[in-house]
Amino acid sequence: MSEPLVLGLESSCDETGVGIVRGRTLLANEVASSVDLHVRFGGVVPEVASRAHLSALIPTLERAAAKADVDLADLDAIAVTAGPGLMGSLVVGLASAKALAAYLGKPLYGVNHLVGHVAVDLLDHGELPMPSLALLVSGGHTQLLHVEDIATRITEVGSTIDDAAGEAYDKVARLLGLPYPGGPVIDKAAQEGDPTFIRFPRGLTARHDLDRHRFDFSFSGLKTSVARWVEQRRLDGEPVPVADVAASFQEAVCDVLTAKTVDAAQHLGVSSILIGGGVAANSRLRTLLEERAAAAGIELRRPRPALCTDNGAMIAAVGSEAIRAGLKPSGLGISADSGLPV
Ligand code: KG4
Ligand code: ZN
Repeated sequence: MSEPLVLGLESSCDETGVGIVRGRTLLANEVASSVDLHVRFGGVVPEVASRAHLSALIPTLERAAAKADVDLADLDAIAVTAGPGLMGSLVVGLASAKALAAYLGKPLYGVNHLVGHVAVDLLDHGELPMPSLALLVSGGHTQLLHVEDIATRITEVGSTIDDAAGEAYDKVARLLGLPYPGGPVIDKAAQEGDPTFIRFPRGLTARHDLDRHRFDFSFSGLKTSVARWVEQRRLDGEPVPVADVAASFQEAVCDVLTAKTVDAAQHLGVSSILIGGGVAANSRLRTLLEERAAAAGIELRRPRPALCTDNGAMIAAVGSEAIRAGLKPSGLGISADSGLPV
């Protein structure tokens, strides 16, 4: 059989993504974001996101089919995010995928969003050496995953015990008076700042934390520390050096993410590290991890930034790997699971 033609639908948060792949070749990846509707609330409003998915899904699907120049009747399978994510948002994608699968008579695969962040690298860099370690850093997740088989064996090695890395970026941006989403804005502001201006704490790196939390992360203490520093500055009537605070905060996040990732990779004896999720688009994280992985003799795989943030191609990629591994489709009875573990 030739490589399967797979459609992927993603709607777990505020991005409506439709991707089309043939095997591991990316044919189309169209994303409609409702982020502008959430800006004034300073974060994603679930009800608003669900409604936006409903209106964006069909136009995004049409754009993707046109870009890939495929007839939906020629698809071999449809893949859709079943979780984790916002329940109302997931339901819109799942209901649409079910209707499409039933109408077209195609097999339906419900897939895990987190696996999508790992599998998407196959579209950029081909076969992933096994086993590998994936660092998944987004607005909702911060995890280290031991990848032994993309379709069947991914296990969690560590995770955040409080805020996700992206969440920390978003909260710190807010307290610096910068807009949502904070990640890209802090990334940009930090380029003008001094990363050594303030030494903010590195969560769970103290000796007594390492026993139980060697591969776990914590960002809420860092966020509080930035808040206190900024507050004190304002009480003192001093201006807040936004670029320096942004750079110092970013350095604390990236230092701990990269140090723990390389430590876990060495501990597990893997020869390659892969990054995914919105924060994987961060310029400092990408360069620091590159340096530290190279120093440890470990290959680093970084999907292009547009594939790091939520999209449909990553979901199609998981569907394609499921078919390659001979897994059975989920069928039309599948339901959404907002807390789906990896
Ligand atoms: O993976 P994603 O698109 O959605 C989730 O599944 O959460 O990640 C969104 C998160 C947001 O918190 C956003 O601030 C962050 O990724 N982000 C970044 C950058 N671009 C997006 N964080 C740091 N640096 C960036 N360049
Ligand atoms: Zn995501």
